[in-house]
Amino acid sequence: MQIISKRARRLRHSEAMRSLVQENSLSVNDLIMPLFFKAGKNIKEEISSMPQQYRYSVELLVDKVKELEDLGLKAVSLFPCVEENLKTSDAKEAFNPESLNQKAIRALKEACPDILVMSDVALDPYNSDGHDGLVDKVSGEILNDETVEVLVKMALAQAQAGSDIIGPSDMMDGRVGMIRKALEKNGYKNTSIMAYTAKYASSFYGPFRDALDSAPKAGDKKTYQMNYANSTEALKELEMDINEGADIVMVKPGLSFLDIIYRVKQASTLPVAAYNVSGEYAMIMAASEKGYIDGEKVMIETLTSFKRAGADIILSYFSERMASLLKNS
Ligand code: PBG
Repeated sequence: MQIISKRARRLRHSEAMRSLVQENSLSVNDLIMPLFFKAGKNIKEEISSMPQQYRYSVELLVDKVKELEDLGLKAVSLFPCVEENLKTSDAKEAFNPESLNQKAIRALKEACPDILVMSDVALDPYNSDGHDGLVDKVSGEILNDETVEVLVKMALAQAQAGSDIIGPSDMMDGRVGMIRKALEKNGYKNTSIMAYTAKYASSFYGPFRDALDSAPKAGDKKTYQMNYANSTEALKELEMDINEGADIVMVKPGLSFLDIIYRVKQASTLPVAAYNVSGEYAMIMAASEKGYIDGEKVMIETLTSFKRAGADIILSYFSERMASLLKNS
């Protein structure tokens, strides 16, 4: 008879024992639900590349957020689908106090004051060029400092409408610091900034760009979003965002960047968020619809992997479904 004194399987023997020694778990407190919306009334349109995700008109968006609140969710992130005729090369609709986005923020804060509203700061939904920054007419270059001036106005308009968390997703240099200073100067000292700190130039954003019809008209985003072959560079971005006054730092996408989440968490004293992006959602939904995988189990495994990698917060299109599972379990 063999004597095996070390048996790892002992702690896997029963469900109760596995639960007792489980290192990471999901909580509804950590989830943020991204939501799409558009102008109009009584609209709920499914996004073809993101099954079970919709573009809502504002009053139905409010109803949806009430449902999310009943599931225990604490935060949503808003993405407006802007009408084509409002898109211009100076993206000025971005800081219009009466824009669809600002109206949605106000409506949500009025109907659900306890829900945290996060709003996106980048020019792509408003820019006729489809880039996150202003484009130089002659050279085609994405202009940094000129863009930051617009982003600051955009962040102020969102803060004034009642946004709790400003989410600069544009990857321009210096924007976190400039936004922080402007918020302080204008009395928005409790408005937080969740910086898209390590945001990679990824092909996993495809379905999101379909949802908003916001793909760049020319070129790609590689002069501002990061090269997915790099990881140390994420720590440089982290240092910059910490120094500039970010409250929370984010890694995006999530699934193919778990190593970056881990490194950022190790190097940061700030809470770390992971963005489980549209393409990651679409892959799981598509394979599940085909019967190739068990979508629900893969969802739970995926979301848990973000926690294991070190994420404190997860933005995911699965947040609603996961919250409802957590509530009923
Ligand atoms: C806009 C923005 C993007 C996403 C969030 N904010 C798209 C992009 O940078 O092209 C992607 C989210 C997703 O794919 O789920 N700057």
